[in-house]
Amino acid sequence: MTERLMGGHDSPALGVCYYPEHWPESQWRSDAEQMASLGLRYVRIGEFAWSRLEPARGQFDFEWLDRAIATLAAQGLKVVLCTPTATPPKWLIDAHPDILPVSVDTGTARGFGSRRHYDFSNDTYRDEAVRISEMLAQRYGEDPRVVGWQVDNELCCHDTAHSASPAAHAAFQAWCRQRYGTIDELNAAWGNVFWSMEYPDFDSLELPVLAVTETNPSHRLAYRRFSSDQVIRFHNACVDALRRHSKDQWITHNFIPMKDTQTDCFALASTLDFVSYDSYPLGRTEFLLGASDPALAQRFMRSGHPDYTAYYLDQSRGLKGKGFWIMEQQPGPVNWAPSNPRPAPGMITLWSLEAYAHGADVVSYFRWRQAPFAQEQMHAGLLRPDNSPSDAWAEVERVHHIFSLIGQDALAQPTAEVALVTDVQSQWVAEIERQGRGYDSNRIQFQWYSALRKLGVAVDVVSQDADLSGYRLVLVPSLPIVGTRFIESLAQASTCFLLGPRFGAKTTELTMPQNLPPGDCRSLTGFHVTSVETLRPDVEEPLQFGSEQFVSRLWCEDIVIQAGNVLATYQGNKPALLRNGNILSLTTLTCDDFLGALLPELLIECGVETHPDLGDCRLMARGDLMFALNYGCAPKAMDIAPERIVYGSNPVPPHDVLIWRQ
Ligand code: GAL
Repeated sequence: MTERLMGGHDSPALGVCYYPEHWPESQWRSDAEQMASLGLRYVRIGEFAWSRLEPARGQFDFEWLDRAIATLAAQGLKVVLCTPTATPPKWLIDAHPDILPVSVDTGTARGFGSRRHYDFSNDTYRDEAVRISEMLAQRYGEDPRVVGWQVDNELCCHDTAHSASPAAHAAFQAWCRQRYGTIDELNAAWGNVFWSMEYPDFDSLELPVLAVTETNPSHRLAYRRFSSDQVIRFHNACVDALRRHSKDQWITHNFIPMKDTQTDCFALASTLDFVSYDSYPLGRTEFLLGASDPALAQRFMRSGHPDYTAYYLDQSRGLKGKGFWIMEQQPGPVNWAPSNPRPAPGMITLWSLEAYAHGADVVSYFRWRQAPFAQEQMHAGLLRPDNSPSDAWAEVERVHHIFSLIGQDALAQPTAEVALVTDVQSQWVAEIERQGRGYDSNRIQFQWYSALRKLGVAVDVVSQDADLSGYRLVLVPSLPIVGTRFIESLAQASTCFLLGPRFGAKTTELTMPQNLPPGDCRSLTGFHVTSVETLRPDVEEPLQFGSEQFVSRLWCEDIVIQAGNVLATYQGNKPALLRNGNILSLTTLTCDDFLGALLPELLIECGVETHPDLGDCRLMARGDLMFALNYGCAPKAMDIAPERIVYGSNPVPPHDVLIWRQ
């Protein structure tokens, strides 16, 4: 796979997203020449081009695409071809308006005029998507100039995982019939006797939308599971269509952050050769911190939070446990966040090298030239609309130079001794059963991840079904629904576990375990939960850990202990942290400082090396190379011998990178 992945090269590579159909053909050749001279190796094209590939039903025009591919290939560039299914053209929507997704908030169709305007459950659309994918694969599936495929674009972006269409409704009924067998089973599993919600048969089953007040959480969880399955079904049909007609070409998809797909991304990734991720650090940081922590958002507005980009990079590596691509890398201001600052000089280099350090084999920039028209005219590219180089250009030249220096070390994937368990079901449970407004599984997960990264610890982000036996420490910030595989990991491992509150709080159907949480895990954790309260986001209460005082926040559990030692207390003398053998359990959410006090102790005990005092700098090793990535505004000195430096200067200047041989 490695050879295929790298297109026969054994060094990290750069690429760009290009839309030949946006530019006069007379410009293509000089574009391709400039791409090659900039050191780019891959060009992704065709992504939203359906209206040009098939201007009317059955009337195909592939000649322009042939010429574009030929022009790029003539300069030695390798083409990544996309299926254009994120943008069904107007003639198709007019012929089949039922393709449009239906809003779960209003029950009305979401219209034509942007993108992603299709319903995953609509069979007509699935057939159409397979048809156009197949047409492309038949034409280019054995074309050596096309090295691989990207399926669709950013599945589920713009909140499109869920639809309340008649097609989704009928498919949901069928899905439930399949899962529960009889309507009595379903009624019992969901507890529909409550509020007289019992259904007489599957044909009468509603979608859990547009009701007077909240619908049954179990019903909603089933709908989320169903919707995730529909996304995967659609995606896999497109993957299969490409595979049927392609040879020696890989297939990928460009993912958005896991939490935004609302889909089981591990399952989604399973039919792909590798995962790609679209990395936009500034907008993502603004969404994370803009409202909740404006001071921190301001501090990192031109760099992104030091851990938030890496968090998604590690998720991307984790989806298949192997190398991935950055298919779209932010090159300057974007157009879609609440505010869109310019990255600090140096950040495009830093993000590119950070991606490589965390396991990306290719970094591809979005986009070649800023389009002076339509929705993204304020979005930077590598070139401005007048063809002058944007601020990003010189940075890409620099990245190319650095990649050529580190080339011989490529392909070793990063390794980690610590794992962080992530799980879309946990997100669904937290969103469905809010209980406290402040409980946000993604934020909790990120808080724990960040606490590790501040200590210079490499992290694998894994699913609860992963083999955890090789890790020294496993962090489980939020896992209400625990599967049997994970219980086995917990029972057998000599690995140390740190579990967050809400662990094992729900059955698979989102009901409370009859024997109280954590249900089947009670004997392992050594306690059970008798009561839960949630606190206002602006409330903090004391939490005592050793001689130091920290805070408890948002989510507080009362427990009864069967076995183990209490390591921290809160709310008088109630247990906040319990240790039973190798399993440590927190009963409340807490602050960064507490994790900063607990984790170093635990990591030392587990034999994991830590690097305190990194400040805003982060470390990541790949193969023999260590990367110090300085997100801060002050230089950061590293304790290394000068002869080991491969690139950069010590101290590491602000927004810069130092690379050395370990
Ligand atoms: C991505 C998307 C691209 C473009 C870009 C702008 O999410 O895949 O097509 O819209 O955002 O930042």
